[in-house]
Amino acid sequence: MTSVLITGGGTGIGAAAAELFAKAGHHVTITGRRADVLAATAERLGVDHVAFDAAEPAALQEALNWLPTSVDVLVNNAGGNTDRRRPAVEPGDLAGIADAWRANFEANVLTTVLVTEALKPRLADNARIVTVGSIAAKLGSGSYGAAKAALEAWNVDTARTLGARGITANLVAPGVTVDTEFFAGTATPEWIASRVSAAFNKRAGTPDEVAETIFFLARPESGHLTGQVIHVNGGAFTAR
Ligand SMILES: NC(=O)c1ccc[n+]([C@@H]2O[C@H](COP(=O)([O-])OP(=O)(O)OC[C@H]3O[C@@H](n4cnc5c(N)ncnc54)[C@H](OP(=O)(O)O)[C@@H]3O)[C@@H](O)[C@H]2O)c1
Repeated sequence: MTSVLITGGGTGIGAAAAELFAKAGHHVTITGRRADVLAATAERLGVDHVAFDAAEPAALQEALNWLPTSVDVLVNNAGGNTDRRRPAVEPGDLAGIADAWRANFEANVLTTVLVTEALKPRLADNARIVTVGSIAAKLGSGSYGAAKAALEAWNVDTARTLGARGITANLVAPGVTVDTEFFAGTATPEWIASRVSAAFNKRAGTPDEVAETIFFLARPESGHLTGQVIHVNGGAFTAR
């Protein structure tokens, strides 16, 4: 049995990944900020949970007391587009623009970098690091896309520096994925339809489909696949 840690595992893609790993017999720990949401998902799936804000160094330091002492699979999934949860910034409001960019950087980049750095001493040889990026890194989406693009650069360094221990680091980049809390009620049917129309299969993805790709990258047999970005988007963006 391997020890699997999934950040943002209380909802959406993270919860689907937790379910997949748990059903395969692994020991799974999920994290997130909302203790009640985490506890409900953990009970439903029969997994462990630890609540903390992954962008806050002090909170993460404290959480280390409760996180697994050895980690075989780290799924850096926590994040999202913070612009969808804040009032729109007026053009020219430089302080507001700075706050909005910092928020997406913290939610997506700092959560991943801090959790990975904190757990590096606990990563087993041949461990797997799978980070959830986004199609937005290729298509734009302002500070959110920029934050996810930063993760792609970080992923390469992580794969390079840990490669000698057999540890792999890869990034899964989903396109529009429904049945998550990502859109926080902000995606109109017209917006979803316009995005879906760009996909070759003319539909949105599901958390289970993204989870399957995470699971594949976490397999022991995937040890020669590292430093890559794997897109899961029905063809809405093709990597070559
Ligand atoms: N859904 C899509 O269309 C889509 C497309 C491309 C990429 N993605 C990426 O997929 C990943 C998963 O998102 P999702 O779609 O499954 O949406 P989601 O349901 O909103 O899941 C995001 C999870 O991250 C947690 N989280 C956010 N900030 C955190 C923080 N600072 N510390 C700890 N946990 C935090 C949230 O829990 P708490 O709020 O309780 O902390 C939540 O459970 C994200 O990285 C997102 O950017 C999603």
